Amino acid sequence: MSCTRCALAGGRTTVVFGMGNPEADLMFVGEGPGAEEDAQGLPFVGKSGKLLDRLILEEMGLTREQCYIANTVLCRPPNNRDPLPEELAACRPYLDAKLDLIDPKVVVSLGRFATQALLESSEGITRLRGHTYPFRRGVLVPTFHPAAVLRGGAEPMAQMRADLVRAKKALGS
Ligand code: URA
Repeated sequence: MSCTRCALAGGRTTVVFGMGNPEADLMFVGEGPGAEEDAQGLPFVGKSGKLLDRLILEEMGLTREQCYIANTVLCRPPNNRDPLPEELAACRPYLDAKLDLIDPKVVVSLGRFATQALLESSEGITRLRGHTYPFRRGVLVPTFHPAAVLRGGAEPMAQMRADLVRAKKALGS
């Protein structure tokens, strides 16, 4: 893929489209590729991704191949800054197309940025998480970004685990 819809195209190595089961009931949406993801062309393959894989398995009994994992933007923002509004807007049709095709029962948004983008909210993640929101034909369960959990220690880790249990219940499994 060789998208040039926004300026992020100039700094990327690889477009990170997403990965997993296109028929999954569960979809994760993160912010945007980091250095490792940009190099490999796959989402959440660095340290954050390792934690995500572990928590999905421990709390939901699922592997990443059984879910779908995507980001709000396909290309790495320089120095991992937040995507700019115009970058988010340029990339949104790709995310919407994935949401249309996969049609997940449950979306778990990872972190403030993805959660605000999907819920069209300006509330902080601490207030937004802990609840389940109607979203498209299913629900959205916000949680912390795994990078924030890696920095934050036991409390956000316990809350992220609780959010994944909430998502599992929403899946009806
Ligand atoms: N952080 C994200 O938000 N997405 C990735 O794919 C990797 C790290």
